[in-house]
Amino acid sequence: MSAAKSADGTAVRRPWVVGVSGASGTPYAASVIRGLLAAGEVVDLVVSRAARLTILDETGISFRDAHWRQDLARWLGSDEGLDGVRHWAAGDFAAGPSSGSYPAKGMLVVPATTGAVAGIALGLSKDLLQRAAAVTLKERRPLVVCVREAPLDGVTLKHLVELDAQGAVVLPASPGFYAGGSTVRELVDFVAGRVLDAAGVPHGMYRRWEGELGAAARGPAGAADAVE
Ligand SMILES: Cc1cc2nc3c(=O)[nH]c(=O)nc-3n(C[C@H](O)[C@H](O)[C@H](O)COP(=O)(O)O)c2cc1C
Repeated sequence: MSAAKSADGTAVRRPWVVGVSGASGTPYAASVIRGLLAAGEVVDLVVSRAARLTILDETGISFRDAHWRQDLARWLGSDEGLDGVRHWAAGDFAAGPSSGSYPAKGMLVVPATTGAVAGIALGLSKDLLQRAAAVTLKERRPLVVCVREAPLDGVTLKHLVELDAQGAVVLPASPGFYAGGSTVRELVDFVAGRVLDAAGVPHGMYRRWEGELGAAARGPAGAADAVE
């Protein structure tokens, strides 16, 4: 099948929108972005205002709209693939992902706050992240919501059920240990890999279950084989 073309005949750029909200777990976002870029995907990045606090708290990096490329390179630990990233300010409702006619493959909200979960479930669109998620749902594109909170209250549980009913994949930031990961990076990559699985993006970020009890004891080796 030929690549989609725009009205002027050029190839259409079709990104994954990555929404980073202000929950603990910013390493999950960095790992998902790295995984998308490694898979040759392009990314539209939206970082909520609160996420600047969590990025600062967890990495020491001040994420600035005006210097997003430098700050993102520091956050990801590399500037490889950054030409494939487009950044939109969280308050920019005129941004591309604000409209359903903007080409996008879908959206990954990672990590997702209980506030973002509520806002998306209720269609509040209080910022670009929530608006882009609402657009993703209305356009029936894949939406993965990687919620991070503990414990979960009843209101959030109801909002998560609502998101599931609307077709989103609710994927808690909850690493599995059967893949043999033991370092923080390996456990983070497990969650990020499951987010990419939900989006159908190939990767080799964790060892998949192969039906053999005890494989975890051998560690995460072999995770490098990407699965389509
Ligand atoms: C350091 C820090 C950690 C936070 N961790 C969480 C969290 O894990 N989950 C959560 O739902 N909110 C967390 N919050 C609170 C959210 O940032 C806050 O509710 C904010 O309004 C969410 O806005 P957003 O959804 O627009 O990013 C945290 C805040 C800070 C400053």
